[in-house]
Amino acid sequence: MSSSTVQFDIDKVRSDFPNLAVEINGHPLVYLDNGATTLKPQCVIDAVCHHYSAETANVHRGVHTLSERATSAYEGARERIQSFINAPALEEIIFTSGTTDAINLVAQCYGRRFVEEGDEILITEMEHHSNIVPWQMLCEERGCVLKVVPFNDRGELCLETFQKLLNERTRLVSVVYVSNSLGTINPVEKIIELAHARQVPVLLDAAQAVSYFPIDVQKLNCDFLAFSGHKLFGPTGTGVLYGKAKWLNEMPPYRGGGDMIRSVTFDKTVYNTLPYKFEAGTPNIAGFIGLGRAVQYVQDLGLANTHAHRADVLAYATAELSKIDGIRIIGTAQSKTAILSFIHEDVHAHDMGTLVDEEGVAIRTGHHCTQPVMDHFGISATSRASFSIYNTRDDVDRFVRAVQKSIELFR
Ligand code: ALA
Repeated sequence: MSSSTVQFDIDKVRSDFPNLAVEINGHPLVYLDNGATTLKPQCVIDAVCHHYSAETANVHRGVHTLSERATSAYEGARERIQSFINAPALEEIIFTSGTTDAINLVAQCYGRRFVEEGDEILITEMEHHSNIVPWQMLCEERGCVLKVVPFNDRGELCLETFQKLLNERTRLVSVVYVSNSLGTINPVEKIIELAHARQVPVLLDAAQAVSYFPIDVQKLNCDFLAFSGHKLFGPTGTGVLYGKAKWLNEMPPYRGGGDMIRSVTFDKTVYNTLPYKFEAGTPNIAGFIGLGRAVQYVQDLGLANTHAHRADVLAYATAELSKIDGIRIIGTAQSKTAILSFIHEDVHAHDMGTLVDEEGVAIRTGHHCTQPVMDHFGISATSRASFSIYNTRDDVDRFVRAVQKSIELFR
């Protein structure tokens, strides 16, 4: 048995998540919608409660004790996140409302400063809408052109085409680290190396990756990295943009308002330094305190220690689901995280989602905000089971039985 298996105590992990004790339609919950959002451990819930019950105050604005405590907890979360992704400087950690907000920030601010008519932005066919639409909006505004790297029928990016599409007009590569609808882990190290060889910066959408891999932005050498707190066992409405200071310093601010300024007169406003230049208005204080606690939780756990368990659950789920007649798995890349998208020839995804819910099993159905992925396969929707650290082979058995039962109802 590997040391990572020994260190991972699934019963302890499950006991950390109170939502797992909830019954749905008379059944113990099997929560397989972790791609949409993860459950929250009690320590995160407690941290948020503590802020509201004992430490409510605004940050960066008061000299009173509560404000100092809130500021210290809030900025402590930033330090925690810096160490979590090994960012070289604290000022490179920008708080946002989520991955979507972080990508929009880069599209608007990097776009205004560095992108001109005829320039190109390079994305892939497997992006979430949040890594497509902000660039389309930029293209409308600046007259730049969106280029798209295709994937093959297993859901693996075509690196040859990527290389061909990279050229002297490319201003930015923005690519998903782990596909939310296919589960593919993209070869981002190679992508970054190829882009940097042409001096093109790279943004990684790490929304699905962040709760899976230990991420080291210095090792990856990415220029920007975006992720959401709520997919990392933290509160909703929290997210992070990591950016290299050399880019962030050159970019204009995102939104105007309090906290993002040094001084304001009607003649001239001087903007604040990083990271505050990009953080206008009162932030989601309790949310980021909760996110700091969530990061501490996964640091204590050690994400790498969860890999053997997660790989086992994915392999078991893939094998068991594949035994059912008429099931087709969408997304069969060699390098995958624990995301299992599938369709059935007789049961539409939405019916599947509703019927398995009657058995207490929560999955997501639809296009998963990746309509171009659905178009690639000529389908409108999939059912998606996405597994996290607290899921077990028992969950898989309950899920597969519920899928079988749903199919029988349609026969
Ligand atoms: N992007 C999230 C998902 O994949 C909401 O479900």
